[in-house]
Amino acid sequence: MKVCSIVGARPQFVKLAAIDSELRRRNIEHVVINTGQHYDKDMSANFFLDLGISAPNVDLGVGSGSHGYQTGKMLIGLEKALIEHRPNWTLVYGDTNSTVAGALAATKLGLPVAHLEAGLRSFNRKMPEELNRVATDHLSDLLLAPTQVAFDHLAREGLAERATVVGDVMTDILYRERDAVRELSTDPSKYMNHEADDYWFATIHRPYNTDDKKTLSSILSAFEALPDRVLLAVHPRLRASASAHGLNLASANVQLLPPLAYRELISTVMGSKGVITDSGGLQKEAFLLRRPCITVRSETEWVETIELGWNQLCPDPLYLNEAASSPPPTPTKAAPYGTGDAASRAVDILERNL
Ligand code: UD1
Repeated sequence: MKVCSIVGARPQFVKLAAIDSELRRRNIEHVVINTGQHYDKDMSANFFLDLGISAPNVDLGVGSGSHGYQTGKMLIGLEKALIEHRPNWTLVYGDTNSTVAGALAATKLGLPVAHLEAGLRSFNRKMPEELNRVATDHLSDLLLAPTQVAFDHLAREGLAERATVVGDVMTDILYRERDAVRELSTDPSKYMNHEADDYWFATIHRPYNTDDKKTLSSILSAFEALPDRVLLAVHPRLRASASAHGLNLASANVQLLPPLAYRELISTVMGSKGVITDSGGLQKEAFLLRRPCITVRSETEWVETIELGWNQLCPDPLYLNEAASSPPPTPTKAAPYGTGDAASRAVDILERNL
């Protein structure tokens, strides 16, 4: 069997790490195509090194651009690479422009496609990711759902026959890297030398939070007004928007960090009072590390984190302080994202459906 993974953006590298390690364990041929959607070292190359992922076989170097430009450039490069490699399975990950471009390029060539992290829905069609998810799910031959909720969404769209719940592959890597951090450091939360427990760890990168000056400014004011300090890891989109709007990200209460390596992120979350974010993956990572999360959005795909009381939606930054003062969540042993064996289950299914 020959599997071809198509990735390009930071969260996809983490998911790829789980699949790549499982394919290598089974001696299955794996071709990695990196679209180059993310290209800064700390958003891309460092993840391959830190997580021990096979170097990409093909680097398309597409870079940034409008949705049409970026996706179009990817399609041209992916078609050529897929014709050359002709995999038995093309694997696409998550919901970025690299995901939908990969699914479209491969299915148009008649190559079987499996979508990892299938079935997630925000039901907000203003999000480019939601459009990418829906299109990718309907194009793909095999749908590997992370949760029962995701499977149910697919079933409602008539896709149940192609779908299976395998668990969440990001969880596999999170547990593996958390354990590595624990081994390396007597106090995992001190791995990064932050003084523990007196800060919120924050990330903001969604266009609807970064691109409008008023919204971004009210988020920054809310950070400034929190009684505890905020460590803000700055995504390049946030840095660019703040600079375009003439807004300062750092303030007396807000300390800036660069985009973090995965172990640094885990340690920083573990040492925090909680997480404030609009990222999908980080909401789940906070839950898995049992830190409360405040999500600066009006909806989430990871509804289990809300139902279990570990995540609160706070679309209006005016209420951030109130959300941050909520009582701590009730401890739980629930494992809605699996127990760390999702990659193995996903590869089993690829082999079975060859
Ligand atoms: C993309 C995904 C989003 C995911 C996020 C993770 C889409 C539509 N969105 O959003 O789902 O949550 O990745 O980070 O695919 N830039 C750099 N250096 C880089 C990468 C980006 O400077 O290495 C800057 C550029 O100004 C670029 C902007 O960030 O225009 C946005 O990058 P882009 O890949 O378009 O989307 P993300 O916001 O990263």
